[in-house]
Amino acid sequence: MVIFKEIEPLKAFLSDKRALDHSVGLVPTMGALHSGHLELVKASKKVNSITVCSIFVNPIQFNNPADLEKYPKSLEHDIAYLNSVGCDVLFHPDRSEMYQKPTTTKFDFGQLDKVLEGEFRPGHFSGVALVVSKLFNIVNPTRAYFGQKDFQQFKIVQRIVDDLNFNIELICFPTLREADGLAMSSRNTRLSDEERKTASVFYRSLVFAKNEIRNRAGIKSINERVVEMCLSEKNVRLEYFAIADTENLNLLDNVKDADRSILLIAGFVGEVRLIDNMFVE
Ligand code: PAF
Repeated sequence: MVIFKEIEPLKAFLSDKRALDHSVGLVPTMGALHSGHLELVKASKKVNSITVCSIFVNPIQFNNPADLEKYPKSLEHDIAYLNSVGCDVLFHPDRSEMYQKPTTTKFDFGQLDKVLEGEFRPGHFSGVALVVSKLFNIVNPTRAYFGQKDFQQFKIVQRIVDDLNFNIELICFPTLREADGLAMSSRNTRLSDEERKTASVFYRSLVFAKNEIRNRAGIKSINERVVEMCLSEKNVRLEYFAIADTENLNLLDNVKDADRSILLIAGFVGEVRLIDNMFVE
């Protein structure tokens, strides 16, 4: 695997490859890689001649400085992991390389970045949109791979691809789960043993809600039961549980079209903020 820390040499390397008609797959990450990330790399390798993984902990998408400070880092392990699946290129810039000048550019996605994560993490999606746009311009990928766990992020990226005419195919890859259903996340490494056991409550809530919808239970009663499930666990604080339209993430108060509905949940286990989601069908 070739490692680049600087933008210009990476661009030159990739433009040589593109001149040979090579397709390029991009897997943007913030490091602390887990099997979920590796599945994205493997999916990219299947259809692209070159796979680039980026590792950059993007400061401007963290609305909480403590969260940025504590974001897990494991570069050596990440490099070994990427080598084990044959990733071709790692792009691992410093902050000063990615943000050579102070940035003031802000994105506004209307309703899409005001609900769910956007409500609890103001400014987060503007920061994501900016760094993803930068990565798209630097790497100029044929395809880019994102995990379904961050479904709202995927919708935001879809919006920038449409609005800014990026000629990139986006792939939303299903969430990988631990044996007890907990969605794989870099943040899971911050959970204590006890917290790790309770963290699956978010997955259990989604499964419960999905079954209740199939049994035609009302959203209000499902919501109450999910709140109870989360409250009954030690150290768990629910931020939101919601049902939304998969197309625009408008919040729903009943499920009319199960094929266009997604359940989303977020909350804290101890000090660690976790999110998860599940399609109704
Ligand atoms: O999902 C992530 O890891 C990040 O939000 C991303 C897409 C790499 C942008 O910093």
